[in-house]
Amino acid sequence: MDLLFLSQIGFLVGSVAFIWGLKLLSSPDTARRGNVIAATGMAAAILSILIEPMERGAGNYPWIISGLALGAGLGLLMAYRVKMTGMPQMVSILNGLGGASAVVIAIVELNHYYHGTRPMTDSQIIIPLLALLIGSIAFTGSILAWWKLEEWIKDNALTLPKHNIFNIALLAMLLGLVVWLYLQGSSAGMAWALVFMGLALLYGFSFVIPIGGADMPVVISLLNSFSGLSAAAAGLIYASNFMLVGGILVGASGTILTLLMCKAMNRSLLNVLVGGFGGSSGGAAKGQKGDLVVREVSLNDAAIQLLYSQSVVFVPGYGLAVAQAQKVVKEVDDILEKNGVDVKYAIHPVAGRMPGHMNVLLAEADVPYPKLLDLEEANAFIANADVAVIVGANDVVNPAAENDPSSPIYGMPVLQVWNAKHVIVLKRSMRSGYAGIENMLFFHPRNRMLFGDAKDTLSKLVAELKSL
Ligand code: TAP
Repeated sequence: MDLLFLSQIGFLVGSVAFIWGLKLLSSPDTARRGNVIAATGMAAAILSILIEPMERGAGNYPWIISGLALGAGLGLLMAYRVKMTGMPQMVSILNGLGGASAVVIAIVELNHYYHGTRPMTDSQIIIPLLALLIGSIAFTGSILAWWKLEEWIKDNALTLPKHNIFNIALLAMLLGLVVWLYLQGSSAGMAWALVFMGLALLYGFSFVIPIGGADMPVVISLLNSFSGLSAAAAGLIYASNFMLVGGILVGASGTILTLLMCKAMNRSLLNVLVGGFGGSSGGAAKGQKGDLVVREVSLNDAAIQLLYSQSVVFVPGYGLAVAQAQKVVKEVDDILEKNGVDVKYAIHPVAGRMPGHMNVLLAEADVPYPKLLDLEEANAFIANADVAVIVGANDVVNPAAENDPSSPIYGMPVLQVWNAKHVIVLKRSMRSGYAGIENMLFFHPRNRMLFGDAKDTLSKLVAELKSL
């Protein structure tokens, strides 16, 4: 059989697997299978692309195999070593590498074009220019997002005065250069393409500089969509339907996720990009505020309160992921359910550090999916719940989002845990959460603090419940 035909079949299989895998990823029940199917599709595509040099006699196999081995080795190592809490950083690195690949492809092809070794009509040059622009932004933007998430760079450390004006001017210059390079055709020369790349790389970096705090997930998802779009543009350069399908799927899903997250935070995308929303610095609440005091509850009292409730809602947050407390929450849930308590989980769309973070952790602990309530359902359930147990959450249960117009999170929909009859907050101290802002929930008359590492506290709670 013609080898090129065989590789086309492989690409078709890969494209179908991507679409099918993505469909299955939309539910936690089928997500694992979706991931395996999409990875199999990628394997089919890699094998297919390996056939092509065989047919064309390029003889570059030692290079190709070395690159493949290096990339696969590094990818495996990262996947094994990454902790659940480090996933957003890993996603950022992968987005950046996707963008960097598009930059390399575009620069190689532009080099051929300007040196007359690749036939391209002058109008076709717009495609590598766009791949170069979007890929560069995805690359340096993702690298800076990774450094910020690792907290190697403070959110506001590099912000210039009037930074957004600088960014708008730089973006206008880049768009002007695209038009100019397009109009110049091959007479512009490679040096200008390199200047264009340098400015686009600078813009990627600069565009992420003023963004920080609770806005990081939105920008990561936006950069994810950029890396997809740059891959799609690279697919157009090589007339590869497979790259085009893969790139468009990533670009479209990244864009949809970005918009959904903006909606969850009640912000517009423009506001996120220029807003300078809650940095990660900032004050922790003190034990007393005027007449308001923070009250604690003992393990024994908490256990009694939970066991004699009719309905309990757990609110997991980033601290649950840090403590890896998902399995022990499920143990508490099992004991309560056995005693006739109706137990549910309130899931905020940006709880944790990545989209779906809490769903993944709870699925790992075999919490049945119907017990997970989204924001609206959860707030309705909380209003009638006897106890809301906050496990390492902070920003997503902060009443300032509703009652303090000066708060940086004002307007963001939150879980209204203060409407439950009793609230118990599990955390280690009075320190603030990701957005770096104080949380008056801890001073609420119906709230009690249960200080300590969440897993530790919940394990002790299991022992108390069993002893009752
Ligand atoms: P946060 O507001 O970050 O609060 C987490 C709390 O967990 C902290 O206040 C911390 O208090 C506590 N904690 C940490 N380790 C703990 C442990 N071992 N045991 C018990 N408690 C522990 O979390 P959240 O409410 O989930 O909100 C998420 C925030 O991250 C939002 O601002 C969101 O916008 C942002 N963000 C979200 C994402 C996505 S997509 N989900 C991505 C990046 C950023 P102590 O130190 O006192 O223990």
